[in-house]
Amino acid sequence: MHILFIISTLLSLLRMAASTITDRGGRWDLLLNNSGVVAMHMALTHRNTVVIFDQTRSGPSGYRLNSRKSCYFNDDGDTNDNPTTCWAHSVEYDISSNTIRPLVLRSDTWCSSGAFLSSGTLLQTGGHGNGIRKIRYFRPCTDKKCSWTESKSLLEDSRWYATNQILPEKDRVFVIGGLKVFTYEFIPKSPNDEGSFNLPFLRQTRNYKEKGDNLYPFVHLSVDGHLFIFANRDSILFNYKTHKVAKEFPRMPGNGARSYPGTGSSVMLPLDYADGYNKTEIMVCGGGAPGAYQASRKHKFLEGLKSCGRIVITDDDSRWLMEEMPGPRIMSDMLILPTGDILIINGAHQGCAGWNKAKRPAYKPYLYKPNKRPSKKRFSILNSSNIARMYHSSAILLPDGRILVAGSNPYKRYTFHNVKYPTDLRMEAFSPYYLDTALDDRRPSNVSVDDEIKYGQEFGVKFELKNVRRWVKFVVYAPPFATHSLSMNQRMVSLECVGIEREESGAVTAMVVAPPSARVAPAGYYMFTVVNERVPSKSVWVKFVHG
Ligand SMILES: *[C@@H]1O[C@H](CO)[C@@H](O)[C@H](O)[C@H]1NC(C)=O
Ligand SMILES: *[C@@H]1O[C@H](CO)[C@@H](O)[C@H](O)[C@H]1NC(C)=O
Ligand SMILES: *[C@@H]1O[C@H](CO)[C@@H](O)[C@H](O)[C@H]1NC(C)=O
Ligand SMILES: *[C@@H]1O[C@H](CO)[C@@H](O)[C@H](O)[C@H]1NC(C)=O
Repeated sequence: MHILFIISTLLSLLRMAASTITDRGGRWDLLLNNSGVVAMHMALTHRNTVVIFDQTRSGPSGYRLNSRKSCYFNDDGDTNDNPTTCWAHSVEYDISSNTIRPLVLRSDTWCSSGAFLSSGTLLQTGGHGNGIRKIRYFRPCTDKKCSWTESKSLLEDSRWYATNQILPEKDRVFVIGGLKVFTYEFIPKSPNDEGSFNLPFLRQTRNYKEKGDNLYPFVHLSVDGHLFIFANRDSILFNYKTHKVAKEFPRMPGNGARSYPGTGSSVMLPLDYADGYNKTEIMVCGGGAPGAYQASRKHKFLEGLKSCGRIVITDDDSRWLMEEMPGPRIMSDMLILPTGDILIINGAHQGCAGWNKAKRPAYKPYLYKPNKRPSKKRFSILNSSNIARMYHSSAILLPDGRILVAGSNPYKRYTFHNVKYPTDLRMEAFSPYYLDTALDDRRPSNVSVDDEIKYGQEFGVKFELKNVRRWVKFVVYAPPFATHSLSMNQRMVSLECVGIEREESGAVTAMVVAPPSARVAPAGYYMFTVVNERVPSKSVWVKFVHG
């Protein structure tokens, strides 16, 4: 890599010294007192809107609808609802105006799953009751006219608590699991009548006494084109083309369960050009103590798991390397920040996922720096929110680097009074330290890049940067579908820079190489970010397309 910076080192060093960061703990801002619906599910679209929805049968939400037409869908036969009123169970949040508008759901999306297709359309599947086999689409727009549509075709099997993963083949989605469903299937089907496929691993990992402890399996697409599938404490590498298990990984150390309702979380660490995109590493954190589900039914809330494990799944001899978080955690979201660090946010310390099954909210996010040495220094504790984000809360990364946090409803219906952790419709943004304005002179700005890029293609990036000292990084990030502490399809890929030039004015032009294949980055929209010494630019959208 050739770096031809023309800079005055002394001057920039002086500026750096002046911009000491006073607060590394980040800042919380309340965005809305009423986000309308519980953020059981959230997904950022490439139109800079966020689709939010819960379940249609949870009764009156925070957003009353005027249209009788929508009542019909939302009441969904729930006789407890007053038939003369009706309520939204999905909204679109517009980031720039900080406003919501209601969206009408035609079937119940309770504990469902999703993935973005290459066009930026959200494919969303399953749920409960009349929605358990539904396939829905949300095509994002900027004119506030888009809404949910439903496909005429149905899922082969009932999928409540399933997981979706986008595959390298254009617009093909893998859908796996569900309560008492030990199969996977593809959307679309090819051939049309291929049906679903048994996966004994799902049956084997099921703990009957604990409501499964293997629901919402963690799924990640490895750079070798196979799927990493994790449920309860076990994991496999799966060749979905031959329908064969390619590898079984050792059981993750530590008693207790990592998947629902044990509910820890997992993340695929950023994929890096520097190792030729040959390496895929997964990290799993937190979860429920052994017996947490049965105990919580008796109102005994066992302390959650404190441990995290990392495993390089592309190694010949993969092993779990264990680390400890600063505290026990269940139901936390794990997000990859533009810096490549991992944020662990939301959730609780004790109990497990489910209605009224946890206590002691985890108000403080943790930051994890994957490469920091010594490894004992990787975790730090960030500033506290004062809102409990228990069951049915979620968090997603926004293009401006903030984390959108919403939801919490550990009850069947919206319950605002006389309970310990009332339904919470407040929406917050967490701004990590890197958004501190004291760092603005290190922040790349005015990033522009072509919007459509082919695999392996070199492409130009323009941005401005006053202060360049050592290195500038380029990363892309696939916006996940967030629900139940899973960030389905979340993926960060760091890109190689093959040339960079900086003018006196601060204008920079760089040549960057797109990911080599859809195995590294399935086709679709990604947030492109320039990171200068751990300070990210605002992200812009790029689209990777098949050549
Ligand atoms: C973050 O926490 C520190 C103390 O831990 C506090 O001094 C500071 O005011 C907090 N910052 C914000 C922006 O809330
Ligand atoms: C939320 O409500 C509180 C109390 O009524 C009010 O002080 C605050 O300004 C509101 N915040 C927003 C973002 O609407
Ligand atoms: C990645 O793997 C390929 C194929 O096995 C190999 O040719 C290449 O040298 C590897 N790259 C790195 C950086 O390890
Ligand atoms: C950078 O962006 C800002 C805000 O959009 C704009 O005012 C400014 O003119 C831009 N600078 C250049 C050199 O384009």
